[in-house]
Amino acid sequence: MLCVLGIAVRNCGEAKRTPSKNEAFKTMTDEPKADNHDTSRRKFLLLSAVGGLAAASLATETDVEAQEINCAPVSGSVAWKQKGNNEHVRALQTSADHSGGGELHLDYFGHTAFRLTTPAGLSLLFDPWRNDPSGAWGLWFPADFPRIVVDLALSTHTHFDHDAIDKVDATSVLDRFVGKFSFADVEITGVADKHATDQPGSYKWIEAVKESGADPYPPNNPGHLDNVTYLVESAGIRTLIWGDNRAKPPEDVWKRWGRVDVLTLPVDGSEHVLSFEQGNEIVERLKPKIVIPTHYLQKGVSSALSTLQAADSWVNAQKRKRNLAESRLVLTADSIKDYDREFFYFGNSARHGQ
Ligand SMILES: [Fe+2]
Ligand SMILES: [Fe+2]
Repeated sequence: MLCVLGIAVRNCGEAKRTPSKNEAFKTMTDEPKADNHDTSRRKFLLLSAVGGLAAASLATETDVEAQEINCAPVSGSVAWKQKGNNEHVRALQTSADHSGGGELHLDYFGHTAFRLTTPAGLSLLFDPWRNDPSGAWGLWFPADFPRIVVDLALSTHTHFDHDAIDKVDATSVLDRFVGKFSFADVEITGVADKHATDQPGSYKWIEAVKESGADPYPPNNPGHLDNVTYLVESAGIRTLIWGDNRAKPPEDVWKRWGRVDVLTLPVDGSEHVLSFEQGNEIVERLKPKIVIPTHYLQKGVSSALSTLQAADSWVNAQKRKRNLAESRLVLTADSIKDYDREFFYFGNSARHGQ
């Protein structure tokens, strides 16, 4: 047990009486020299404790009652370990050159994870994935999400296949944020809506939510069936990050999105989130220049255990489509101006590192 500034703290695994100040000094001077590591450490802490007591003039000759503390292993954010720092963001913060033109880079990390890099060089990562920590949903991703350095990390909702913002080294984190964010040459509008529920595919995962006793439908849905979509404006291009949003949001949501140039949509062969028909209806309503399928089974990223399937059959049914051989798209407002609902399918192309 250690005593610091009059507070007795139980040293995990020990149940000893707190020594008085005099006893502590005696212990330090009387202990044999041939000491094991644990005893030495205890002695050091004891010395610190006595020093603190003396400095604060709070020492008493009586024992202090032990205060129970939680000795469970500490868990939570490991952001303090990250490799990057904010120097890049600081440079962007003071740069005056944010004219709005230039190239927008879009890197696909598989599933629904995208990194957008603006003409000014600001990097934004959306929806990094991980496996369900409870194990209930099985192995979706055989490998870990690559530990990359980005300026901003964002997540659309709390499902494991979208929320691994602790798996990347990000200067700033915008987790499920709603409203406007403006920095350097990007403006993001976070629009609150709801997750898809009654998926038309054969795997009725919504039944598992019902089995848990939760009502999956708005307005009483559990928080994990909320979803934020992000409308990202940069380089004169408006990109909509859909996440797992429902197919038919209310009218105010469509208005908040406004014009969409690049649309990401979670449609796979199993119709896990949206059906082909729902996807087509959204495309017809928004009439984006480019459609990017997401949330599908992808070799090298996801496992068949996810029950997802490739998006080939949906893409092949479209009038205008192209299969991408690389994981990066380089877009400018001018280069995409003549596209009309053109499907850009990454297939098995995904980025696996910085
Ligand atoms: Fe989800
Ligand atoms: Fe998902």
